[in-house]
Amino acid sequence: MPLNPRLRLHRWLLIAATAVSTSLHAREKPVEPPPPVLHAQLAQIDRDAARLPAALARGEKGAAVCRHCHGVGGNSVRPEVPNLAGQNPDYLLEQMNKFVHGQRQSSAFMSGMIKALSPDERVDVALFLSRQPVLKKPAHVDARGAAGARLYGKLCVGCHGASATGAHKIPRLAGQQVQYLEDSLKRYRDGGERVDPRMAAYTRNLKDADIQALAAYLSTL
Ligand code: HEC
Ligand code: HEC
Repeated sequence: MPLNPRLRLHRWLLIAATAVSTSLHAREKPVEPPPPVLHAQLAQIDRDAARLPAALARGEKGAAVCRHCHGVGGNSVRPEVPNLAGQNPDYLLEQMNKFVHGQRQSSAFMSGMIKALSPDERVDVALFLSRQPVLKKPAHVDARGAAGARLYGKLCVGCHGASATGAHKIPRLAGQQVQYLEDSLKRYRDGGERVDPRMAAYTRNLKDADIQALAAYLSTL
């Protein structure tokens, strides 16, 4: 039996409204959980042998676009771009969250890249990158590097550790790109683009030559 015209119109409006609301829903940004919730999620998946493989596979997919700058498996070949391979997953996640929340402003481009990932994808990408092997570089400590080693032993070892691998939210520095290390240390020292009270305190009295020595040493580890 044919529907009367008013009912037909109602039905059509209902279908149209449903279509609009589903498409709005599909475009809705995922709710942004507070950072501690994301770090707890990361720790849980990290310990869960049943969930980990799928998370790593999703992380590998999510990290595919990062290769253009951060290199295959997060081993950068560009001096100003940091290695992410073997970096501590909590540190990676924290820095991604800082880009999203505007707390790290050295690279507007990076903020855009990370905002394109959902919170869950950030967790998966951090887990994936942290498990990528760090490619060994030729290690040759020259006089400048030796001076850097002495400074490191005096000022930095307490937090970043004897082998400069850090832990949790304290970053691995071993084998990092020289240029990136220098840039980062100057940013903490000069304030503004990267703000962290601990790093500000420990870089405050460093001269440019000290920073070059530290970067030369750390990049050889
Ligand atoms: C166009 C180049 C480019 C692309 C693509 C890119 N990055 Fe970056 N990324 C950078 C640069 C440059 C920095 C250093 C920014 C700074 O000095 O603060 C950086 C920094 C980072 C850091 C901070 C690392 C540290 O040691 O503190 C993380 C984490 C990161 N990127 C993750 C990613 C992820 C994940 C992707 C892919 C979804 C990605 N990046 C894609 C250029 C890029
Ligand atoms: C009190 C603990 C502490 C000490 C001491 C310390 N750091 Fe750090 N360092 C941190 C923390 C925490 C971060 C991450 C800060 C952030 O979120 O930006 C960091 C970040 C860094 C980064 C950025 C790494 C990256 O991938 O972007 C570099 C480089 C660094 N530290 C080098 C040093 C050097 C060199 C010294 C000694 C002169 C030093 N740190 C002393 C705690 C410390």
